[in-house]
Amino acid sequence: AIDPQFTENREQVDEHNGHSVWGPVDEPEELGIHGTHVAVDFDICLADGACVEDCPVDVFEWVDTPGHPESEEKADPANEAQCIDCMLCVDVCPVDAIDVDAG
Ligand code: SF4
Ligand code: F3S
Ligand code: ZN
Repeated sequence: AIDPQFTENREQVDEHNGHSVWGPVDEPEELGIHGTHVAVDFDICLADGACVEDCPVDVFEWVDTPGHPESEEKADPANEAQCIDCMLCVDVCPVDAIDVDAG
């Protein structure tokens, strides 16, 4: 599961689609965590798609990640500022790849 303390335990190493990327990153095998308020651990995501389908405000967009061992696309929190903290994505992800900081 995604580490809920990732902002303390990781370093911001990049930006992507207007959000932070938290390392370590070593493409294409290791992609880190994308987003901060809505954070997706790309190294855990296996492209189930429930978050993309269920988010009521379309926070997520698919991005291609060819060569990643878990899946070749990931749910990117491209519109994390739109999040209304409903926590649906956190509940539906089968591998607990998503953390939403509703605090
Ligand atoms: Fe979308 Fe709700 Fe998840 Fe926010 S908490 S990203 S609004 S499903
Ligand atoms: Fe990935 Fe979980 Fe969404 S596996 S596509 S973050 S439901
Ligand atoms: Zn991203």
